[in-house]
Amino acid sequence: MSTLHVIDHPMIQHKLTIMRKKETGSKDFRELLQEIALLMGYEVTRDLPLMDVEIETPICKTTAKIITGRKLAVVPILRAGLGMVDGIRTLVPVAKVGHIGLYRNEETHQPVVYYCKLPEDVQKRLVIVTDPMLATGGSACDAITMLKERGCHNIRLMCLVGAPEGIERVQKEHPDVDIYLAAVDEKLNENAYIVPGLGDAGDRIFGTK
Ligand code: PRP
Ligand code: URA
Repeated sequence: MSTLHVIDHPMIQHKLTIMRKKETGSKDFRELLQEIALLMGYEVTRDLPLMDVEIETPICKTTAKIITGRKLAVVPILRAGLGMVDGIRTLVPVAKVGHIGLYRNEETHQPVVYYCKLPEDVQKRLVIVTDPMLATGGSACDAITMLKERGCHNIRLMCLVGAPEGIERVQKEHPDVDIYLAAVDEKLNENAYIVPGLGDAGDRIFGTK
């Protein structure tokens, strides 16, 4: 079974509360999402392996640590996942970025794929899938399946807010994928929106409603 990591650092919780408020505008919402993505990035990358290298400081020669092993790819689920990419890339500037375009059909709530462009060597990378909202889990599960079909076998899912239904679905369909969240909310409503949630993340990031 995958591990669910709920990152309840006070800075993240405070920023998330501002994002949830309906009066928070698009600019602040976007900036806060980026900041939280950077902070969550610390936890998502916590176990990256290190190796020793010889360096010379202005004082003397010494041995110091650098990150080694698997390189990173960030794969946002369009559109809303885009809002988390810059935060992670501030932390890991060399990370490559792939894109998976999915939207939920408003009536059936089923994800519909419209785009997929990934780094050439994505199967050799640690892939961090980003999407602020994990509602039914359909979009995340389909995106992860697409990545696995292309050979990826080291995948982590980083969202902001998750509903119990979505978490359970990802854990059932992809037990090898760890999930990182800033909050587990109460439930889904009749339109499959997260309660209390923060509304439609894509619309709030891009100002489309
Ligand atoms: C939202 C959200 C997730 C998905 C979550 O995207 O960003 O991708 O819904 O719902 P699920 O867990 O039930 O699949 P949406 O389809 O609204 O597209 P958008 O990001 O383009 O606005
Ligand atoms: N997508 C969103 O943007 N918000 C939700 O609450 C559910 C799906």
